[in-house]
Amino acid sequence: MAKIIGGITTSHIPAVGNAISDGLTQEHYWKRFFDGYQPVHEWLEEKKPDLIIVVYNDHGLNFFLDKVPTFAIGCADAYQNADEGWGLKPTAPFDGDAEFSWHVAESLINQEFDMCTCQEMLVDHGFVNPMRVLFGDHEVWPIKAIPLAVNTVQHPLPSARRCYKLGQALKVAIESYPEDMKVAIAGTGGMSHQLQGERAGMINVDYDLETIESIINDPDSFADQSTSHIIEQAGTEGIETIMWMVMRGALGEKVTCLHKHYHAPISNTGAGVLLLESDA
Ligand code: DHB
Ligand code: FE
Repeated sequence: MAKIIGGITTSHIPAVGNAISDGLTQEHYWKRFFDGYQPVHEWLEEKKPDLIIVVYNDHGLNFFLDKVPTFAIGCADAYQNADEGWGLKPTAPFDGDAEFSWHVAESLINQEFDMCTCQEMLVDHGFVNPMRVLFGDHEVWPIKAIPLAVNTVQHPLPSARRCYKLGQALKVAIESYPEDMKVAIAGTGGMSHQLQGERAGMINVDYDLETIESIINDPDSFADQSTSHIIEQAGTEGIETIMWMVMRGALGEKVTCLHKHYHAPISNTGAGVLLLESDA
């Protein structure tokens, strides 16, 4: 049977992708941020997951504002990146696993999460940069990856509670896959940031640190927060952190935190890294 071996969080800041391409990861500005991933790299090296589900948000590359699914899952055997600006060079395509995806989609829909199923899906920095900070750059990626998109862009957005419940359903979906497979889940995006308007540039370190603690030990308290409360505290794009709740829901009630790291500011964002294993 497939098994969820752990959950990871990471932001997806475009400038991070450029820092990797330009070989700047050990420069003063970037070093502490990138060093925060070291324990995750060691864990990935040791545990060798077969597949990673990347819970991410699209920023207009695959879904534009005319059509935005609340939740969507890739059901393809490959996913392409493409030029989306930000100075990011397109990466090599990612291998998926359509059979696994269809199993997950069917299970989620049976559990009343009516996913949009995508047999073609362009993945943007929301997906690509998490893959790059976790695995480095590759012509052939060392792991299968499945994009699971959450709308964090066009209101109305799904609530943190709804994302948490999606994660709980995802656990059932993954653990009912008959083939032996080690699955990791990445909850990406966040933490506090706002890229436009009067509060552009705001970061809320105290709120981010509280959010990290509640997502680890008391996810219900984050799930109880409304979308407008999270946006007030963390900024319009800070709402991306709801995607961490999909990962958290999939790990079950109690988790062990193997690593946590926070760095702010990096680009315009407060950035958090978590590595969690389920206690069950
Ligand atoms: C930044 C962060 C984001 O989440 C994003 O999508 C684009 C830019 C930033 O911090 O610059
Ligand atoms: Fe973003």
